[in-house]
Amino acid sequence: VIKMADLDLTDKKVLIRQDLNVPLKSGVVADGTRILASLPTIKLALEKGAKVMVMSHLGRPTEGEYEHKYSLAPVANYLSALLDQPVRLEQNWLEPDFIPVERGEVVICENVRFNVGEKANDDALARRMAQMCDVYVMDAFGTAHRAQASTHGIAKYAPIACAGPLLAAELEALSKALDKPARPMVAIVGGSKVSTKLTVLESLSEKVDQLIVGGGIANTFIAAAGFNVGKSLYEEDLLDTCRRLTEDAKRRGADIPVPIDVVCGKHFAENAEAELKSVDKVADDDMIFDIGPKSAAQLAEILKNAGTIVWNGPLGVFEFSQFSEGTKEIAMAIAESNAFSIAGGGDTLAAVSKFKVCDDVSYISTGGGAFLEFLEGKKLPAVEILEQRAAQQS
Ligand code: 3PG
Repeated sequence: VIKMADLDLTDKKVLIRQDLNVPLKSGVVADGTRILASLPTIKLALEKGAKVMVMSHLGRPTEGEYEHKYSLAPVANYLSALLDQPVRLEQNWLEPDFIPVERGEVVICENVRFNVGEKANDDALARRMAQMCDVYVMDAFGTAHRAQASTHGIAKYAPIACAGPLLAAELEALSKALDKPARPMVAIVGGSKVSTKLTVLESLSEKVDQLIVGGGIANTFIAAAGFNVGKSLYEEDLLDTCRRLTEDAKRRGADIPVPIDVVCGKHFAENAEAELKSVDKVADDDMIFDIGPKSAAQLAEILKNAGTIVWNGPLGVFEFSQFSEGTKEIAMAIAESNAFSIAGGGDTLAAVSKFKVCDDVSYISTGGGAFLEFLEGKKLPAVEILEQRAAQQS
């Protein structure tokens, strides 16, 4: 793909698609991680003398309607403070009365999903967006799995379509971990359900030397191995699938270890009493909420020797302190390992931040769904179209 960093942007109208879909609380930005990650791209465009327009979606508003709670106004304020300069929020940026952007100025275009046709990747809308710029920069890795007007259609019609620094960095880090991994490669896939991560599990189990499963996903593997999981969250209809995954992995010389000890509770609550048990001693009224210290130590040993680590999903209910040790131990083991490590997904990032290992993970992805689709081995449509354009432009 063509990279923004390689282009001359002097006096160019540069329209940057970013993923500024951040959580808000009482009308202010509650977590600015994605805005911070996008900041170097905006600064670089300014340094290069561009007239900067930034567009993003926020949430999932009803198409064709302006909904105040989905306005990018709080994001514009946040960005303005970071840049230490005014950031104009443009409601009608696709209308003829739009006041052109000056060099050095930053304008935020109001939520792209207010436009009819954004989600459907409408051709007319994509053309209209493309007409607004000399250069289109796709930098929204977190939305690169969506083929929408602002992430895909526009790239067909903009005079120049390129990848921004954040998108380029994400792709480079993920490709390094998945395409040319230093061995042994270990993936940790946690979270509540096998069904929502089945394709990720299938795809990763073919690549890795060890696949560590956690959370509700591990419960289904524990049950598949023949142990009682009591009242734990697990998916009965996927027991055979888990057995098949385990056997296939073994045949390839890989392993999907089942926890040897677990931390149980009798109900899902912040004050639930935690009881450590051997995995073969889980009672009918138990719910498994975490892995035990023996399992954590075993997994930490695996991670210590890893060359590459890919982490998506917590190992237990880490929001409650009595069930957080397993996820914490794994986070610490990743932090201490010399492996090239990559973490992504909302819950994973919450864990990374809770256990203060942000600086010790080699790369933290801004993607949720996009990160998972990359792990599944899927082509991201917003990246594919940039590749096609690059082939045409060269
Ligand atoms: C995300 O938060 O995963 C991205 O911003 C994509 O949002 P979407 O799932 O609403 O398309």
